Amino acid sequence: TDYKTILVERDGRTATITLNRPKALNALNSEVMNEVVAAAEELDRDADVGAIVITGSEKAFAAGADIKEMATKTFSQVYGDNLFWGWERLTQVRTPIVAAVAGYALGGGCELAMLCDLIIAADTAKFGQPEITLGVIPGMGGSQRLARAVGKAKAMDMVLTGRQIGADEAERSGLVARVVPADELLTTAQEVANKIAGMSLPIAMLAKDAVNAAFETTLSEGVRLERRSFHAAFATDDQKEGMAAFVDKRSPKFTNS
Ligand code: HXC
Repeated sequence: TDYKTILVERDGRTATITLNRPKALNALNSEVMNEVVAAAEELDRDADVGAIVITGSEKAFAAGADIKEMATKTFSQVYGDNLFWGWERLTQVRTPIVAAVAGYALGGGCELAMLCDLIIAADTAKFGQPEITLGVIPGMGGSQRLARAVGKAKAMDMVLTGRQIGADEAERSGLVARVVPADELLTTAQEVANKIAGMSLPIAMLAKDAVNAAFETTLSEGVRLERRSFHAAFATDDQKEGMAAFVDKRSPKFTNS
């Protein structure tokens, strides 16, 4: 497929979506949204893809929603279009998604990273929700996902003052999974994605679904869902193979069945 604002590459079972509007620091206009979501959905339908990496440039993962595109919009327009609703479709993608973040991840950029399943950050990464300085508030889930990721204190600090946090503070706070030197960001993120893609895809999907349930439901319902999913794993060939391989002291050969 021909995209204008993103690049999509495949390497083995890992696919990488690179935001590619360098002159606008990857500001997320509606075209970027439509293309990222369409690409992710297409990759999700492809059983040969076991994990997806979403990344930006060295300077910016994404400097936010496109301010120039939305500056003059009226309430009726943004409400009528349900502006930014499209990004929620990323949460329906079942293939695991790794965000590889260098430079600015501000506003919608931070929110896009949080829509992914885990974030690997370069030591140059800067996360922030500066919407309040523009007279708006986060609109792609930031107030909710940031509060769940880093807790109320830091979320309020960031959302009310617009303060940016660096990679180390983001890791300390639980926003990012790992921090690596900037020149190792993409290889590390792709290694993590390859590792995931080497697992059984249906089992990885069950695992992702179970962790996500922790943010949607009560503890007892979540634990119940987890246990039922654990039981369901025994219906797969890959459970038989994984456990047989352990017993035989060899590496498993998963077939995603
Ligand atoms: C549109 C943007 C942009 C954005 C940068 N650009 N961010 N265009 N929307 N979010 C454009 C600039 O206008 C400029 O274009 C070019 O990218 C380079 O940016 P500079 O500002 O010249 O770069 P620099 O001085 O290095 O500063 C980098 C920066 C700054 C600190 C990241 O660009 C910045 O503060 N950007 C806005 C960050 C922000 O507020 N994001 C939140 C957006 S609101 P020209 O044409 O001049 O070269 C949001 C809302 C989500 O995400 C939902 C709620 C509604």
